[in-house]
Formats: sequence, structure tokens, C-alpha cells
Amino acid sequence: MTNAPAITSLFEPARLGALHLPNRLVMAPMTRNRAAADGVPLPIMDTYYAQRASAGLIVAEAATPNAVGQTYPNITAIHNDAHVAGWRRVTDAVHAAGGRPMFLQLQHGGRVGHPDTSGLTPLAPSPVPLPETIFTPGGHQEAVVPREMTTDDIRATIADFAAAARNALDAGFAGVEVHSANGYLLHQFLARNTNRRTDAYGGPASGRVRFVAETVRAVADAIGPERVGVRISPHSTVNGIEEGDTEHIYPALIEALADIGPAYVHIVRAEPDDPVFREIRTTWSGTLIANPHLPGAAIPADGGLHQATRLLAEGADLIALGRPFLANPDLVHRLRTGAPLNPIRDAYLMYVGGETGYTDYPTLTVGS
Ligand SMILES: Cc1cc2nc3c(=O)[nH]c(=O)nc-3n(C[C@H](O)[C@H](O)[C@H](O)COP(=O)(O)O)c2cc1C
Repeated sequence: MTNAPAITSLFEPARLGALHLPNRLVMAPMTRNRAAADGVPLPIMDTYYAQRASAGLIVAEAATPNAVGQTYPNITAIHNDAHVAGWRRVTDAVHAAGGRPMFLQLQHGGRVGHPDTSGLTPLAPSPVPLPETIFTPGGHQEAVVPREMTTDDIRATIADFAAAARNALDAGFAGVEVHSANGYLLHQFLARNTNRRTDAYGGPASGRVRFVAETVRAVADAIGPERVGVRISPHSTVNGIEEGDTEHIYPALIEALADIGPAYVHIVRAEPDDPVFREIRTTWSGTLIANPHLPGAAIPADGGLHQATRLLAEGADLIALGRPFLANPDLVHRLRTGAPLNPIRDAYLMYVGGETGYTDYPTLTVGS
């Protein structure tokens, strides 16, 4: 393994705004579809997150800020008192297990939604349907044409994000991560193929970043910028996204975010040789969380340490890992000691209900 000091630094404490993190390993947000049909977290989620309490920071899975933003069945939400109470149970369990801060990811699906799931016609920047089928309570179905958001819809959606962020704090989270990655609503505003608007929220990159910037500003005004992160996925084609001018979008977005001052920017599947990654690191002076691109479908034998090291050397401050945490509740301990990792068992169990493939991955030790 190269660059031993960088690896060592992974296990050293770090700061995130006013928060003290015991190490630099972040559990990436992962939707596990273990909520009730109404979006209330089920009690097995307490166990799952508490098992992973040794992460430096947990970014809990996508939670929907309003009814129309629901993507898939059994995902969590954070727009009513029952959601707050359910999430409060989860954060209490993590804190009781010695866990440090948790952020909650706020995700609006935009066109990645279906009336059979949410009861509502999805909203999106433009009436461009998802070019894939979508999973609904009745199985996979053709996507529907979303309704183009009016200026009033935009205002209401931004207000819902701000209210959801307040709810997250009431539920015991230290902050929220605004999901502007992976082809969901905010990414749909950024990308050329999904944003065909001719008003101030469309057109050149400076217009397409506006909705994201206004959302982040409203959330920051509601709970304080030091409690807000933003997740982005430059180059991603997930959920039918074709950004078109990636090299213009992210400089414009980082410039807008710099004015707002959120706690961190979180890059999905970051690659240190990517010029867009390098430019973001140069221009973004705040904390940068990098979620490495792990080649292949399986978790690499080193759990992603090699890629993490490359990113730390290129200026990432914290490293987010997804599947390695999913399969290894005590990932921090295993990576620190070089212990072997559990592989993912039965990939389909990542997205279906129940304890199997969820809370039954074994630990080597208690804590780390
Ligand atoms: C089961 C599963 C669920 C995921 N859900 C989310 C999510 O809710 N929000 C999100 O931003 N990314 C989500 N992702 C992407 C992960 O956060 C991460 O970016 C991806 O898995 C790559 O990291 P890894 O190679 O360390 O797993 C999910 C990934 C998996 C495997």
C-alpha cells in the first residue's frame, strides 16, 4: 500500500465545522427500503445504524422532504411528526451506541417517481420522462411524463426542503445533506437533457444551477450553513442524466455555494485524475468529502483504502464509503487493523425489506 501517512490520517480525528469527528471515514447515504409505506423508519433501522456507530460521520439514507418527491416504495421521509419521531429513535440509538454526528440526506426524486408510489404526478424542471422503467408497489412500470414545475412549485419545493431540514434537527440530526446527485430533482435542474426551461432556472449553466443554489440557501437560512452539506455527482449518467456541459456546471455551482458557505461538498464516485474533481478541490475552500470510485461490482479486498489514499493525497478531507459499510458494521476497526472484510451477500437484499442482508452482517469486535 502506498502513502502510509495518508492512510493513517483516515483514522485520526477531524473537524467538520463545529463538529468533532473521531475519524475521517464517512458512511455514505444508502437507501435500504426498510421504512414503512408511509416513510416512517422501522425499528430495524435503529439496529442497523447503531451497528455502524463507529463511522466518523453517518450520512443517513435519502429521506423525502414532501409527498410528491417520493422515489420508490418504502423509502424514508421527513415531512411530518411521525417521520420525526421515527428518525429520533434512530439517532437516539446511534448516540446510545457511542456514535457521533449524523446528517440526513434530503432527496426529492423529481421525475424519478410514479403516481402508483406517491399518489401524485411527479414534478420536474421539464416534462421529460425517465427513459427507464421505475420500481413501484406493483413492480416495474414505464415512467410517466412529469409535470413541468411552475415558479410557485419551485418556491414551494424550496420551502419544503427548508422545513424538512428543521424536522431533521428536531429528529436529532446534526445537519442535512442536500442531494444534488444521481439524477434526482436537483441534478435534473443541473443537466441539459432534463432542464429545457427558458426561464431563469434554465438556459446556461449559470441558470441551471440556480434552483440548487436557492435550495441550499433556504436550507442554510433555516438551520445554519454549518449544518448543511451538498452531494454532487459530476459526469454521472445515473437515472438517464446527460449533463451536457459538466465542465461549466460545477464551477458555476461551486461559485454559488461559496457565497452560502455550507459545511461540505460531497462528490460521488470521485476520481482524483478527473479535471472536474481537481477544479472543485482548487476552488472549493470548505470541507470536501470524496466517495471513491471503486472499480468493479464487488467491494475491493482493501475496502477502498487504495482509492481513499489517492483522494486524500489530492486534497479530499473526508472519505465516504457505501457498500463497505453496508457489509461491515465495524468497517473502521477492520480497515484500521487490516482485518478481512465481509463481501456483499445477495445484492438484491440491498433494496428489500427485512433483517436478512441488513442487520445480520457479522462484526469482529464491539466498537473499534
Ligand atoms: C444500496 C445502496 C443504496 C444507495 N442509496 C443512496 C442514497 O440514498 N443516496 C445517495 O446519494 N446515494 C446512494 N447510493 C450510492 C452510495 O452512496 C455510493 O455513492 C455508492 O454506493 C458508491 O460507493 P461505494 O462504492 O463505496 O459503495 C446507494 C448505494 C447503494 C449500494
